[in-house]
Amino acid sequence: MNKDKKIYIAGHNGMVGSAVYRALQKKGYTNIIGKSSKELDLKEQAAVREFMATEKPDVVIDAAARVGGILANNDYPYQFLMENMLIQNNLVDAALKNNVDKFIFLGSSCIYPKYAPQPLKEEYLLTDSLEPTNEWYAVAKITGVKATEAIRKQFGKDYVSLMPTNLYGTHDNFDLNTSHVLPAMIRKFHEAKQNGNTPVVLWGSGTPMREFLFVDDMAEGVIFALENVLPDNLYNVGTGEDITIKELAETIQKITGHTGEIIWDSTKPDGTPRKLMDVSKMHGLGWSHKMNLEQGISETYNWFLDNIESVKKVTI
Ligand SMILES: NC(=O)c1ccc[n+]([C@@H]2O[C@H](COP(=O)([O-])OP(=O)(O)OC[C@H]3O[C@@H](n4cnc5c(N)ncnc54)[C@H](OP(=O)(O)O)[C@@H]3O)[C@@H](O)[C@H]2O)c1
Repeated sequence: MNKDKKIYIAGHNGMVGSAVYRALQKKGYTNIIGKSSKELDLKEQAAVREFMATEKPDVVIDAAARVGGILANNDYPYQFLMENMLIQNNLVDAALKNNVDKFIFLGSSCIYPKYAPQPLKEEYLLTDSLEPTNEWYAVAKITGVKATEAIRKQFGKDYVSLMPTNLYGTHDNFDLNTSHVLPAMIRKFHEAKQNGNTPVVLWGSGTPMREFLFVDDMAEGVIFALENVLPDNLYNVGTGEDITIKELAETIQKITGHTGEIIWDSTKPDGTPRKLMDVSKMHGLGWSHKMNLEQGISETYNWFLDNIESVKKVTI
């Protein structure tokens, strides 16, 4: 890929978008553009069309979305369904109409059925029903995958969908009302330690198994998709390794130095029992992750401590 190609990162201020931005800069890409949601509301079709027609990027990376954990997904089903569909539909349609050569859509592992065999292969998409707590978000993401697939099929264009597993890292959302499990635990253990090692109450039973990918590894996956023509439409991006939520909690407890009790609130939902990606398709093409989980959590915790006053507050 020519280093002066114009690359538009939708959501360049977000956790993933900013990691992709940094990684592209590091690799010498010189023509990267982005707009905040205040400057360009991607839910507005006319504004997106005008932006795309004016800027005419060569590549669009769609890292913009309404993102959140179980609580937010459960409480705001309409926003998770509709905002995500509006954002991605406006982007992909305007990209197609403006002859954008390459489009990379970021979805999520929750597109796969709740009880699909593990590890999750790309071919399990739409073979059974979804996990109800986040089906709104999942349905929106599935339509995004299908949009890139339809464009490949009908127009032969290099539009591709990457499905990240659970991501974490610098610039994550640490707001307890809207965050994912890993940053929420970092905040809870840290604050409990500050309060004299008070008990930490965590959701569910601790038995579900989850996979976590460091966001800079995800950014490398996006750049891999940018610099190569991938032969299929849909690719899982993860580590291919998982741990129980209980093991995750104990790892974070150790890293934050909390010495109090952990209480599991089993009245709260667990979500899908296991969610491990089969990453053999990406591995087969030559991409794999580098960061080990403990090291990645330490780096994330250090970033949280350095940015504790300014960490994101995400309101819906
Ligand atoms: N985080 C994860 O664990 C995870 C896991 C799997 C998949 N993903 C996927 O990865 C992508 C990026 O996620 P993330 O964690 O980086 O999310 P994030 O930190 O919340 O960032 C999302 C970005 O989307 C932008 N955005 C949201 N609504 C917008 C709108 N109406 N108009 C313009 N921009 C808008 C925001 O822009 P402003 O900051 O300017 O408001 C923000 O920068 C998403 O597609 C997500 O589904 C994430």
